[in-house]
Amino acid sequence: MTTRIPVSVLGATGVVGQRFVARLAAHPWFELTHLAASERSAGRSYEEACTWRVPGSPAYAGLGRRAVVECTPESAFAPVVFSALDTAAAAELEPQFARAGAVVFSNASAFRMEEDVPLLVPEVNAEHLRLLDVQRARRGWRGAIVCNPNCTTAVLVSVLAPLERRFGVEAVLMASFQAASGAGYPGVPSLDVLGNVVPFIRGEEPKVEAETRKLLGRYESGAVAPAECVVSAHCQRVPVVDGHGEALSLRLRGAPSLEDVSRALREWRAEPQELGLPTAPQPALLLHSAEDRPQPRLDVDVGGGMAVHVGRLRACPVLGVKLFALGHNLERGAAGASVLNAELMYARGQLV
Ligand SMILES: NC(=O)c1ccc[n+]([C@@H]2O[C@H](COP(=O)([O-])OP(=O)(O)OC[C@H]3O[C@@H](n4cnc5c(N)ncnc54)[C@H](OP(=O)(O)O)[C@@H]3O)[C@@H](O)[C@H]2O)c1
Repeated sequence: MTTRIPVSVLGATGVVGQRFVARLAAHPWFELTHLAASERSAGRSYEEACTWRVPGSPAYAGLGRRAVVECTPESAFAPVVFSALDTAAAAELEPQFARAGAVVFSNASAFRMEEDVPLLVPEVNAEHLRLLDVQRARRGWRGAIVCNPNCTTAVLVSVLAPLERRFGVEAVLMASFQAASGAGYPGVPSLDVLGNVVPFIRGEEPKVEAETRKLLGRYESGAVAPAECVVSAHCQRVPVVDGHGEALSLRLRGAPSLEDVSRALREWRAEPQELGLPTAPQPALLLHSAEDRPQPRLDVDVGGGMAVHVGRLRACPVLGVKLFALGHNLERGAAGASVLNAELMYARGQLV
């Protein structure tokens, strides 16, 4: 590819926005043209406006002197827009960009459950992109909004998709161990989270339950019918920096053996891996055999934080199968997820 596609990042100063900037500063298909944030940051240089928190990449991705602009189509338009805005700001600003002709890849919850908005994980439900025809016809936008799910949901559905495809998922019980960075920067006060577990994350459990059913649902004649499985989520904040752990108990149709479940997870290959998309991890799911893995500190950065890990697969006396899953909340659950969504659309000729 000789000419890269211009892209903007909205909310570029936040923890998710910084991950976008780090990824896009070196992306083979996209060229980062605008860093946008609130009016508190607009007009300042990127290094003045944000506290850089991306380990292992050059400070401010080498863009420290770049001026931050306001999140308006007049100041920050590009044909492809990555949004790491807070939900209230996203609700107001993302449609302005879509109306102006941009395809907006959003991390916020504002539009995820709208009937005509694809809630996308490319390995799980690429066919839901067909909702874009409905969205454009209904809203009259030249552009579009495509959402990625909540970070906890992203890890959960990545594990459920191969099992849904091979057997059918009937019931899911999920208890999460969610990293502090899931609350943005500076996020949860250290006095609340250090040496502690906080058994409440506002709004999280209903989001995980509803988004999972939409993602596993079937596209039929212009709409997505949610999957029929029951999902119960218990969400906890724990003193981990990056990486959401999830303890799952599952009831699968036909009560398959652990060996069959293990094979379904190991053999899982999806479109992003087959297309060799730049952000797709190879493989998408990593099955651990060590009895004490996966762990956030040891495993979460594999595949640029895009791999989803599964370990401790064993029999559950209540639902049949249990396991432990792990994924990077800021990459598989946020910035990397949006970039992968854009890559999938580009590779399919649906982006520009
Ligand atoms: N953290 C995660 O693990 C995670 C995972 C999945 C999804 N998400 C979602 O991603 C989004 C960003 O989360 P985050 O954790 O990166 O939050 P964050 O660190 O608090 O960053 C929020 C960003 O939004 C900007 N912003 C806030 N209000 C604005 C306004 N009125 N106009 C324009 N810009 C505004 C901020 O700019 P200033 O710096 O100028 O204030 C900042 O760049 C949220 O919707 C969140 O729910 C987060």
